[in-house]
Amino acid sequence: MPTVAENLTYWQRYDWKDRGREWGRGYGSIEQGWHHAILPRISAFLPTGHALELAPGYGAWTDLLRPLCKNMTLVDLTPNCIEHCRQHFGKRAMTYHTNDGRSLAMLDDNSIDFVFSVHSLVHADHDVMRAYILQLGKKMKPGAFGFLHHSNLGEFAGQFETWDPKDLHWRGRDMTAEKLREDCREAGLVCVMQEIIPWGSDKMIDAYSLFTKPRPGQQPPERVERNPAYWDQIWQRIELAKRYAKPE
Ligand SMILES: C[S@@+](CC[C@H](N)C(=O)[O-])C[C@H]1O[C@@H](n2cnc3c(N)ncnc32)[C@H](O)[C@@H]1O
Repeated sequence: MPTVAENLTYWQRYDWKDRGREWGRGYGSIEQGWHHAILPRISAFLPTGHALELAPGYGAWTDLLRPLCKNMTLVDLTPNCIEHCRQHFGKRAMTYHTNDGRSLAMLDDNSIDFVFSVHSLVHADHDVMRAYILQLGKKMKPGAFGFLHHSNLGEFAGQFETWDPKDLHWRGRDMTAEKLREDCREAGLVCVMQEIIPWGSDKMIDAYSLFTKPRPGQQPPERVERNPAYWDQIWQRIELAKRYAKPE
């Protein structure tokens, strides 16, 4: 839980008037989230060639990533999301697909340079994440990287009943950072950096995973870190940027 069918129902009915920018409020704004939370984690891989964004919603992050990509493919489960992105971003260097919440069959093998998803697949269970990772092993080019934000709630299985239900944040309940690393190994990918982070409370229910499809002969090591100071670090960066802002 939540299932693909529940995601589809929820996001199809969701009021998208703020285009997903509302999920940037935790950082002050989506731009601050991009500059101080996301970009420091992916800047080594940008600009890039062909980027795949999984589950873009109404394109809040796409706005920011798109100028750094030669071309982009957007894949989302919810038809109105893909329709909005098509209207908003147009045809030039952009390709759009609605999927069944699992399949990447529409992509050519060895065609993706960079995979990206933030604020979306946290709501996916392990079966979905596993399906995506196994296919990404084929769809990514050798030497390509991917950055996914996903649930680690499953690490706390057995404790949910004692938690305040609002601390579950509709995360995939059986998904863990460890399972993603295992799935990467099975897919021929290597999770080169994984950061387990708190979300919505001090509970470490989320993870960022950076993975690569190694070129022949490459054997990069896996690395896992727990970062309870995630939000403090971002707020320090935001405060510093404010002190150096252009005066009005
Ligand atoms: C919380 S919204 C976030 C959208 C966007 N990333 C943002 O930050 O504005 C979740 C999005 O994930 C999509 N989604 C959920 N499960 C999915 C799945 N299994 N495959 C593809 N898209 C999915 C939904 O359709 C929705 O667009």
